[in-house]
Order: sequence, then structure tokens, then C-alpha cells
Amino acid sequence: MKSLRTLTLAALCTLAASSISHAADTTAAQQLAHWSAQAGSPGNADKGKVFFATRHGGEWSCASCHGTPPTAQGKHASTGKPIAPLAPAFNPKAFTDTAKVDKWFRRNCNDVLSRECTAVEKADVLAYLNALKP
Ligand code: HEC
Repeated sequence: MKSLRTLTLAALCTLAASSISHAADTTAAQQLAHWSAQAGSPGNADKGKVFFATRHGGEWSCASCHGTPPTAQGKHASTGKPIAPLAPAFNPKAFTDTAKVDKWFRRNCNDVLSRECTAVEKADVLAYLNALKP
């Protein structure tokens, strides 16, 4: 009886975990290495910091939703919905799912710059975010 209960519990936990977890196929360090390689130069944290906090012709900067520094919970600039901290040292889930990272880079860069971010811009933003520590 006990083993059956343990089994059921284990199955339930697996179910719960798979429905909430991400693919976890990358890390913030790997993302920085990837975009630096694509850019042909290492990401620059100082440039990333300026890029993140600056508006690029539109209504929003990255910081409008993610905050500056993006080490605490952000708030969506139009819906007011909470956004988990973007800096990986403050959010273990940030930059762990390639599909999610690509999707939000595409969407958010379009919202802020009316185009996709370049590899250089992504490498700079990642260098900035990865350098933020508690
Ligand atoms: C209008 C609001 C808004 C703006 C502006 C915005 N973001 Fe986001 N961003 C979000 C939301 C919402 C998410 C999804 C959060 C979640 O589900 O965890 C997100 C997620 C992300 C992610 C995925 C992080 C992860 O969990 O792996 C990245 C990368 C990102 N944003 C980068 C940027 C960059 C770079 C800019 C500026 C060019 C920017 N964002 C501007 C709202 C915004």
C-alpha cells in the first residue's frame, strides 16, 4: 500500500513539474557566448546598460517593463502584469529556454526598436544582465 502511494505521489510530482517547467536547454552564460560569437566580438556590459535604459525612437525602453536595474520583479508598461526579474542572478529561470529567449527578444525588440535586435545588441544586453549580482 505504502509503495503504491509513493508511486502515485511521484507520478503527480512529475506531472506537475512537466507542466510548469521550461525546456531548460540553455544558460545565460551560453546565451552570452552564442550571441558574442554571432556578433564576432564579446558583449559589452556598459553598452548593454545604456541600450537597455534608452528609448530607441518609440514609447518604451527595455527598462519600461523590466525596470532598471532589472534585478527585481518588473511590471508590464501597458498591462501592469508582473514580470519575473530579467537578470539571471535574481531569477534562475531567466535565459534557460532557447525558444522562450528567442520569442521574447523578437517580440520585445520589435516593440522597442521596431525591428529585431542585432547579435551585437543581444550580446551587450546579456553581458550587462549577467554582470548584475546581488
Ligand atoms: C512592453 C513590455 C516589455 C518591454 C518594453 C520589454 N520586455 Fe522583455 N519581456 C516582457 C515580458 C512580459 C516577458 C516575459 C516574462 C515571462 O514570461 O517570464 C519578457 C521577457 C523577456 C526575455 C526572456 C527572458 C527569459 O525568461 O529567458 C528577454 C530576453 C527580454 N524580455 C528582453 C528584453 C529586451 C532586450 C528589451 C528591450 C529591447 C525588452 N525585453 C523590453 C515585457 C517587455
